[in-house]
Amino acid sequence: PRNIFFSRHGESQYNVEGKIGGDSDLSERGWAYAKALPQLVKDAVGDAPLTVWHSTLKRTGQTASFLPYPKLAWKSLDELDAGVCDAMTYEEIERFYPEDYASRDEDKFNYRYRGGESYRDVVVRLEPIIMELERQENILIIGHQAILRALYAYFHALGQDDLPYIKIPLHTLLELTPAAFGTRERRFKAPI
Ligand code: F6P
Repeated sequence: PRNIFFSRHGESQYNVEGKIGGDSDLSERGWAYAKALPQLVKDAVGDAPLTVWHSTLKRTGQTASFLPYPKLAWKSLDELDAGVCDAMTYEEIERFYPEDYASRDEDKFNYRYRGGESYRDVVVRLEPIIMELERQENILIIGHQAILRALYAYFHALGQDDLPYIKIPLHTLLELTPAAFGTRERRFKAPI
């Protein structure tokens, strides 16, 4: 059966600084994950053919850079756009935009950042990706937290209330195998 693989990008500079969004490079640990990823993928995929999809942001391309498979960059895989809050820490958002911070807490799926996106917007923008995924064989998506939450929720049939809180850990490869009675899942954690 065909498999869909998900991985977040390796730890980024912004992850280290606690900032959201942006287009930062991988941290040293992030690069170590990028270097460990080919073996992690090989252990899961074996010799089956695979295509890698990533976003147009540097951190996913860098994470994919050592993988010996065909690659494609999709703009629609870019991380949820945090608008005016891009590059801020959650503490800064709470301080400068307290009402927004509270409304996001209230309804995280529908909250749309000023000048940016909501999880609902992301789900809509991912529709073409999902259509294409359904037509393809083995695909590995090197993505971002909010993006992978939306894709994960689709394959596991999780609802809007759960979706924004799904835990997608860093430095872990997820293998999803869609089947008639629900999606099977395996996780491969990198020792980094
Ligand atoms: O912190 C990493 C990150 O991918 C941010 O770029 C993004 O805004 C955030 O996670 C999404 O997670 P949450 O919706 O929980 O803030």
